[in-house]
Amino acid sequence: MNIGVPVETIPGETRVAVTPETAKKLRDQGHVVRVAAGAGVAASATDDAYRTAGADITDQVGALSSDLVLKVRAPLAHELASMRAGAVLVGMLDPFDISNAQRIAAAGVTAFALEAAPRTTRAQSLDVLSSQANIAGYKAVLLAADLYPRFMPMLMTAAGTVKAARVLILGAGVAGLQAIATAKRLGAVIEASDVRPAVKEQIESLGAKFLDVPYETDEERDAAAGVGGYARPMPPGWLQRQSALVHERARLADIIITTALVPGRAAPTLISVETVQAMKPGSVLVDLAAGRGPEYEGQRGGNCPLTRPDQIVNKHGVTIVGYTNLASMVAADASSLYARNLLDFLKLIVTKEGTFQIDTNDDIVAATLLTRNGSLLREAA
Ligand code: NAI
Repeated sequence: MNIGVPVETIPGETRVAVTPETAKKLRDQGHVVRVAAGAGVAASATDDAYRTAGADITDQVGALSSDLVLKVRAPLAHELASMRAGAVLVGMLDPFDISNAQRIAAAGVTAFALEAAPRTTRAQSLDVLSSQANIAGYKAVLLAADLYPRFMPMLMTAAGTVKAARVLILGAGVAGLQAIATAKRLGAVIEASDVRPAVKEQIESLGAKFLDVPYETDEERDAAAGVGGYARPMPPGWLQRQSALVHERARLADIIITTALVPGRAAPTLISVETVQAMKPGSVLVDLAAGRGPEYEGQRGGNCPLTRPDQIVNKHGVTIVGYTNLASMVAADASSLYARNLLDFLKLIVTKEGTFQIDTNDDIVAATLLTRNGSLLREAA
């Protein structure tokens, strides 16, 4: 079949869905791979590299009008207009954004949103949330280190001793754990917190201290256990106690990285305005939930209401980083990992003979199937 790889058009999106490495594998499977000119340039993959891998270089419409279109982000209206009814689309399609899903359905396209894959062992190799969050956690620490006006490690010099930076990490899922590991390598002293009790050991095994907010009721314990590996919204009583502890630790921290998300809901507020006011001057907050938190002063913040999506702002002496696409700042590796996730996913919907086979008895296929031949499948949205 024809497989199209368009240029990503969302501003700031530098990743590409197919790399020369995976283009060659698709070619070896007998497919025609049509890459839009320049699609990989921002991820360090040149048109020549794709040609060497056996792909054809085409224009944007050529890529979008293929039988199977592989994308990083959901297509915009003008991209959908170039897609054929009956075509199959695979990407990170934002399954909780209903209007976006409706637009894709209206184009008559069968679409798979990879973010909706279950967090199971079998789905690990195609888990795009993990591959990209891992990169975001790493980059968050590097950005913080860059903006922080002091050293990260403890240093003993002839001019005196410099203390190690204290890093507080809130939310210890994939991004948070990678942030701990990266900050540790830079010599910081780290504390971390999460609602899920299972992460305590993981946090400690990476050399960080676990900030415990003990559960006081069965309701709190049940909510904390989460569902499908994900967090659920915690009862207000627990959140208040967490907030008091976070406030105390944040006052002492030099760098805070927040990563807390609850699927399908606004991200929880973990760093209040009062907490920012109490933080040290020159401290840095990198908010990976930027643009996904509750609305504050007319805009959606993140785990902190003062976060502004895709901006760096200084509030009360604290530098707050609200970049929403950190994986794109490590475009080459982010693309390599994403492209391999995609290749693995295709094994579930494309037969060895090169035809589509959409088996909704497969839990991964069923969970990711967002639209089918123009119908919006509610269970995925
Ligand atoms: P996520 O990106 O949805 O959320 C990030 C973290 O924020 C989570 O650890 C969550 O518990 C935490 N959080 C939510 N509300 C919070 C609050 N009020 N305070 C503090 N922390 C809060 O999560 P992510 O990173 O996608 O991981 C979700 C789960 O999936 C984890 O259990 C992870 O271990 C599991 N997982 C399983 C995989 C597999 O088996 N295939 C692969 C990757 C992850």
